[in-house]
Amino acid sequence: MKFTYYGHSCFLVEINNKRILFDPFITPNELAKDININDIKCDYIAISHGHADHIADAVTIAKNNNSAIIVCAYEIYEWLSKQGLKNFRPMNTGGKWNAGNFTIKCTAAQHSGGLPDGSYGGNPVGFIVSDGTQSFYYAGDTALTKDMELIPLWANLDFAVLPIGDNFTMDVADAIIASDLVKTNKIIGVHYNTFPYIVINEKEAVEQFKAKGKELILIKIGESIEL
Ligand code: NI
Ligand code: MN
Repeated sequence: MKFTYYGHSCFLVEINNKRILFDPFITPNELAKDININDIKCDYIAISHGHADHIADAVTIAKNNNSAIIVCAYEIYEWLSKQGLKNFRPMNTGGKWNAGNFTIKCTAAQHSGGLPDGSYGGNPVGFIVSDGTQSFYYAGDTALTKDMELIPLWANLDFAVLPIGDNFTMDVADAIIASDLVKTNKIIGVHYNTFPYIVINEKEAVEQFKAKGKELILIKIGESIEL
């Protein structure tokens, strides 16, 4: 799998010859000002919940990638379809879709889910993506929750993408516990440093994970890693 980070909770995963973009929020993010969203090519766009910091560039990127299928909560599908988008897989918590080259399952996230104009956005979710060989879990925006104990029943994870910025989501200490619950020692941190409320000390965060025998990977915006 190839993983490219676009800042905040936005990233692109290439799995089994398909490209899935998660939570597009780039143009409003000062830290991601060097990313040109018109350069992003994707086959799917997965949206964890309706907050602006996860959906801001969804319409533009979907229109740039005509055939991209948007995977999201039913209520987000209704909202985005009013903005002219046509290709969707509307889902809800607990559901799984076999997209052919991979499966994607919506997991519970402990958060809120309104849309930018105040519309109801349904429940926030996380995702488990698997191609039968490799699997990963993206928690979305969430608190630490006992529901995470269920994740290993559904997938043997190669890594987890977890929010670590505190204030709106888990902090580093809770993300370490989350990684225990979902049974992985390889964590990619997201949802930090974008706003003053969620600024973290990156070096300390890496050390906290390391002290528990875990690897926290913090990727520079615009860079890619192989997993
Ligand atoms: Ni949120
Ligand atoms: Mn958020």
